[in-house]
Amino acid sequence: MRNIKPITDPSRPKVYIETYGCQMNVNDSEVILSILQDAGYALTENIEQADVILANTCSIRDNAEQRIWGRIDQFKIQKKKRKGVIIGIVGCMAERLKDELLKAVDIVAGPDSYRSMPELLKAVAPESPQIDVLLSHEETYADISPVRLDKNGISAFISIMRGCNNVCSYCIVPYTRGRERSRDAHTIVREAQELWENGYKEVTLLGQNVDSYQWEGIDFADLLEMVAAVNPELRVRFSTSHPKDISDKVIYTMARHANICRHIHLPVQSGSSVMLEKMRRKYDREWYLERVDKIRSVMPDCGITTDVIAGFSGETEQDHQDTLSLMEKVVFDSAFMFAYSERPGTLASKKYPDDIPYETKTARLNEIIALQGRMSLKSNEKEIGKVMKVLVEGPSKKNPDELCGRAGSNKMCVFPSRGEKPGDYCEVEVVSVTSATLLCRRID
Ligand code: 5AD
Ligand code: SF4
Repeated sequence: MRNIKPITDPSRPKVYIETYGCQMNVNDSEVILSILQDAGYALTENIEQADVILANTCSIRDNAEQRIWGRIDQFKIQKKKRKGVIIGIVGCMAERLKDELLKAVDIVAGPDSYRSMPELLKAVAPESPQIDVLLSHEETYADISPVRLDKNGISAFISIMRGCNNVCSYCIVPYTRGRERSRDAHTIVREAQELWENGYKEVTLLGQNVDSYQWEGIDFADLLEMVAAVNPELRVRFSTSHPKDISDKVIYTMARHANICRHIHLPVQSGSSVMLEKMRRKYDREWYLERVDKIRSVMPDCGITTDVIAGFSGETEQDHQDTLSLMEKVVFDSAFMFAYSERPGTLASKKYPDDIPYETKTARLNEIIALQGRMSLKSNEKEIGKVMKVLVEGPSKKNPDELCGRAGSNKMCVFPSRGEKPGDYCEVEVVSVTSATLLCRRID
């Protein structure tokens, strides 16, 4: 069996990686580490011992980038302490800022340049920083077996595609991750198989827009089916779905397989059709609500979560109210909620002024967050009395005699322990709830 865990051999040069941003970045760090281990490096979790310090970065909002600039200053302290330490910025911010970053660090590598990391590391010298930010139409890292960086060994990410062709007007991702391309389906199934053989119980298939997966006639629903067939005890999740693309075929495929988790992350962004048009989402409010109805008619117990942006260009009070009313209508299980952050180079930055005052954006965001708190509670209250199969993650934070783990819907459950280990399944019944957690009793 292939080793998929980090090598920590102290005789090797050591690399330290910090990961920011989305799940895709978490998996990319695992790919980078795999490439570097093959080139003779080992992982360290202690920055003080690192020969190479890497930050895998995110550009989605300005505050994500500001955080990285702050981290770079701290990394430089390590460089002062120990001669020869190399600082590398990789990922989306590397791709976006290119030479501007090269003035501050030793290596800059974009999301499609990870195979050249060993060469960049070899070539780097005090007056000779290295950069590779070429985007590719083909790179999927299909043949690379990621070194798993998760702590509990039960849940892992599998990237099924890279890039994005959607060009939502606010979004930097198409510029940092390039054109969309799907990965060889057989390598995906093989990776799921390998994870199962290594004791993993859950895989999450990742893509910016999984519904447009397409490889040699295999679409996303087919792929889901192939991965679900690896083992009935292997849970399959996926993210992210696009409301314009999520097909009935995917919904029915989920319904047919008990091990495909009933959870769909379906970012709505706004409840106003006017805003959705300006955002170039290619669906309107009615379309979104129809997709939610379809999902729930086929799978009444399916968890639905979302992303919302407050204060996009030109957003009126009415548009904002439309977002609130949609949230109230749908009752999302949970949501990631953001204030609009203009990204240089995007369509919106060229076409639409970022004209909503900071105070208005913040006030609207706070209203959205408060409403979602009430909706999460309402959504959880509907679960009282229901029986669910939970995959144990570990002891609950508050009480060591209790365990926590997720239901298929992705809701967090807490329940009494009988000594089960992470990766075991338990049957529970929901007794009471908070907006964040289902409190359960054992029925197995
Ligand atoms: N400003 C604020 N939020 C954004 N997102 C994407 N781009 C921006 C932006 N410019 C949000 C969207 C997306 C999530 C990953 O990040 O809600 O779904
Ligand atoms: Fe992920 Fe988007 Fe951030 Fe890139 S910009 S790391 S794709 S969230």
